[in-house]
Amino acid sequence: MILTFPKNFYWGTATSAYQVEGGIKNDWSQAGSKFDAGICCDHYNRFEEDFDLARAMNNNAHRFSIEWARIEPGQGKFDQKEIEHYKKVILALKQRGLEPFVTLYHWTLPVWFAEKGGWLTKDAPKHFERFVKKIVSEYKDLVKFWITLNEPNVYTFHSFLRGIWPPFTKSFFKTKKSLQQLSQAHKIVYQTIHKISPDARVGIAYQKGASKLVNHEWIYDFLDSIEDFQDFIGLNYYVGKFSSSLFKKIFRVKLTDIGMEINPKGIYYALKDLKKKYNKPIYITENGLADAKDEKRAKFIIDHLKWVHKAIEEKVDVRGYFYWSLMDNFEWVMGFAPRFGLIEIDYNNLERKLRPSSRIYAEICRNNNLNI
Ligand code: FCB
Repeated sequence: MILTFPKNFYWGTATSAYQVEGGIKNDWSQAGSKFDAGICCDHYNRFEEDFDLARAMNNNAHRFSIEWARIEPGQGKFDQKEIEHYKKVILALKQRGLEPFVTLYHWTLPVWFAEKGGWLTKDAPKHFERFVKKIVSEYKDLVKFWITLNEPNVYTFHSFLRGIWPPFTKSFFKTKKSLQQLSQAHKIVYQTIHKISPDARVGIAYQKGASKLVNHEWIYDFLDSIEDFQDFIGLNYYVGKFSSSLFKKIFRVKLTDIGMEINPKGIYYALKDLKKKYNKPIYITENGLADAKDEKRAKFIIDHLKWVHKAIEEKVDVRGYFYWSLMDNFEWVMGFAPRFGLIEIDYNNLERKLRPSSRIYAEICRNNNLNI
């Protein structure tokens, strides 16, 4: 059976700056050795080689983030050299036929902003807007798709409720407050981006599982709060139905290397739910698994795409799929152990090697279909 995807479907992979670039000074790198990604994958210097591999996988898009701390290392002080760097990154993508999807905030902050109180600072949305204004003015002729925020629900849960990520706060009140601030920031920059670049498409990347509880929407329904301020929805799908490891055991669900539930059908439920509530174009901005031995990855991708295809058949307007991640990288507090990449990184010498599953993904991307 051949399942064909819509014409002009975007096929890509996703990364974020702090997880791959290396050499970044931000609130994470300052938080102690466990939080310091160090030289990481040195993607900052090897992006061309990495994009060659994305091209070799027949991708036609790539999602990455711009590190605010590089662009604005001091309040209101922009670093022209870094602005030029990301311009080179974007041009390198375009030269390879990869449409850039640019994330403006993927969880890490400039030190000056964190020291002011980060997202809890009264003027936080204004500070973010200054950065966004600069970026969009610089790259407006090269970039159409902007993802303002990555997974605000997950970030605030770990940073303000569980207190395991910078700024290590455990407060229900601050969790809610930071979500309100992020929502406000998004709404402001949504309008700013459109003012500077009327044809731009703007959304967020939102992590949603197959059940309500895992999305933490009971704290704050983020997508509802920005309903009229998004041209598309980015769906990051990982978690299935259960967040508790006890339930995962009881229901004997299949797990990734880091104990996440493998639940391909859940992506269908998540997509249908988004369609019903918001009826907007959807890009799957992340979906992937940690699988060091590369035993489950190809099947994982195929199984999820089957359900994505079913949703499309049922009129959900899905326009792209970005596997997380292009390469192995720094998985936040779990460090370098989890292996999410289609490209394997040897951290001894930073050599890159395509994993076998990448061939399957390359075939899907080339044919714009699943042949199953
Ligand atoms: C998502 C994050 C991404 C990465 C994957 C595995 O929640 O957006 O940075 O850590 O999980």
